[in-house]
Amino acid sequence: MPDTILDKIKADHREASALLDEIIETEDPKARSEKFATLRDELKAHNDAEEKVLYARMKTKGGEDEELALEGEEEHDVADKVLAMLDTYKRRDTKRWTVRAKVLKELLEHHIEEEEEDVFEHARDLFDAATLQKMGEEFETAKERIEQQQ
Ligand SMILES: [Fe+2]
Ligand SMILES: [Fe+2]
Repeated sequence: MPDTILDKIKADHREASALLDEIIETEDPKARSEKFATLRDELKAHNDAEEKVLYARMKTKGGEDEELALEGEEEHDVADKVLAMLDTYKRRDTKRWTVRAKVLKELLEHHIEEEEEDVFEHARDLFDAATLQKMGEEFETAKERIEQQQ
């Protein structure tokens, strides 16, 4: 049986989290820079696909579903800004850069926790198993399309 969108989102979260840990721990500037570029592109594709496939549907439901989706989008915006700052300063100030990457890690952990608890709970109530699987395929397709544009 293929994965649901929730399985796919969770797998992406584990991957991004592990990659960010590696970025924070590595001493090699070249490796750090390369890993950061990968994380930046992957997060962008993940977040955009989430917004298109999951949040867009939740927003049409109103009430708490809509509010959770809007909050998620705001947190994506904040992550985007921190990613852009890290991109700009990556060759200048390693100490500050690493501290900033740790701030991104905190933001990411908070966001992942909210998604996997609150958002997932609402999604399971809103969509049946077949729909969650169909959304999993749409999520993959949306991510591929975004990655091709990068
Ligand atoms: Fe996510
Ligand atoms: Fe998200």
